[in-house]
Amino acid sequence: MKVAIIGPGSLGKALAKCLGLAGHEIRLSFSRDEGKLRAIAATLRVGFGAPDEVARWADVIALATPWPALELAMDALGDLSGKIVWDKYECSRA
Ligand SMILES: NC(=O)c1ccc[n+]([C@@H]2O[C@H](COP(=O)([O-])OP(=O)(O)OC[C@H]3O[C@@H](n4cnc5c(N)ncnc54)[C@H](OP(=O)(O)O)[C@@H]3O)[C@@H](O)[C@H]2O)c1
Repeated sequence: MKVAIIGPGSLGKALAKCLGLAGHEIRLSFSRDEGKLRAIAATLRVGFGAPDEVARWADVIALATPWPALELAMDALGDLSGKIVWDKYECSRA
C-alpha cells in the first residue's frame, strides 16, 4: 500500500523502516525543517512531500506527530475523504 507518514521523528522513522521492509511504498511529511525532512527521506530511501500532496497520493495516512502539533497537521493534510487514517500503534513480538 501507499503510506504517508506524518511526522518524521522517532515513531515516524521506525514506521517507515518497518513498513518499507514489508514492501509498502512510503512518503514522509510534516517537518518544520524541509532540509531535515529531505535528509531523513534520503537516508531511509523513501519519498517525501508536502502534507496535502502525500495525503492525496496515499492509501493510508499514519499520524506520528506530538499531540500539540496534531491540529496543525490535520489542517495541512486537507481532504482525507476515503483515506484510512492510522493513529494508534501497538507493538508485539511473536
Ligand atoms: N517514539 C515512540 O516509540 C512512540 C510510540 C508510540 C507513540 N508515540 C507517540 O507518537 C508521537 C510522536 O512521537 P515521536 O517520539 O516520534 O516524536 P518526535 O521524535 O519528537 O517526532 C515528532 C515529529 O513531528 C514533527 N513536527 C512537525 N511539526 C511539529 C511541531 N509543530 N511540533 C513538534 N513536532 C513537529 C517533527 O519534525 P521537525 O522536528 O523536523 O519539525 C518530528 O519529526 C507522540 O505523541 C508520541 O507519544 C511515540
